[in-house]
Amino acid sequence: MKKLIAGNWKMNGSRDEVNQLAYDLMTGLSAEPSDKFEILLCPPFVYLDRMDKFFKATPVSIGAQDCSPRENGAFTGDVSASMLADMGCSYVILGHSERRTYHHESSEDVRAKAMRALAAGLKAIICIGESEKQRTDGIHMETVADQLEHSLPPGFNSGNTVIAYEPVWAIGTGKTASPQDVEEMHGFIRKKLSEKIKDAGNLRILYGGSMKPDNAAALLATRDVDGGLIGGASLDAASFIAIASAA
Ligand code: PGA
Repeated sequence: MKKLIAGNWKMNGSRDEVNQLAYDLMTGLSAEPSDKFEILLCPPFVYLDRMDKFFKATPVSIGAQDCSPRENGAFTGDVSASMLADMGCSYVILGHSERRTYHHESSEDVRAKAMRALAAGLKAIICIGESEKQRTDGIHMETVADQLEHSLPPGFNSGNTVIAYEPVWAIGTGKTASPQDVEEMHGFIRKKLSEKIKDAGNLRILYGGSMKPDNAAALLATRDVDGGLIGGASLDAASFIAIASAA
C-alpha cells in the first residue's frame, strides 16, 4: 500500500504564501518517485480552488480540513461536503483534535460529517487520539476505542476512510509518541477495525503529531503506520518533501 503523506496547513497562509509553497512543492516533488507515497495537501477552504487548479494535472491530491454535517441550506458560514467535491477535493479531515477542543465536536458530530463526506464521494480522514492526562491515567486505549466506535460512519471501508491517530499531547508540541507506543496503538486500532470490516488490513492508519524530517523515517517504518498527517512541517516545502522521501 502506498503511504499517504498528508499536509494539514491549518489556518495558515496568504495568497502569496500558498502560491510560493505550492510552487516549491511542485518543483521539489517532481524529482521524487511517486510509487511509494501519495501526497495530499489540505489548505484552508479559501485556497482550495487555487490549489486544485495548481495541482490539477499532477498526482497531488487536495483535501479540506472540515465539512458540515448537513447537506445544504441555511447554515451561514458552513461548507458542505458536496461543495468540497465540486471544488476538486478528494479527501476531508474530520474530527481533528483542534476541532474537538475548540468547536466542542463530539464523535457523533464527526460521524455525521463523515456520512456527508462519503455520500459526496470524498474520503474521510477521521482523527482520533488521547490527551496527555488520558495517557498518564492509562485510559488511552479505551479513549481511542470509544472515539473509533462513535466516529466511524456506516458503510466505511478501506476505500473511503482513513484513520489518523494523533495523540493530542504530540500535536504542535515537538513531542512525538515513540515508535513502540505508535506500533501498539496502530495495532490496536487495526484490531478494532477488523472486528467491523473485512478489509481492515487495507485501511490506512496515519500517525500525526510533530512528525518532522528527523523522526519521519522511524515512524513511517513502524508496523501498521500507513502514512502521516503533518501540521507544522507541512508549511515548509523542504521539510514536507523530506518527510515524503522518508516514506
Ligand atoms: P503537527 O500537527 O505536525 O504540527 O504536530 C499535526 C496535526 O495536527 O495534524
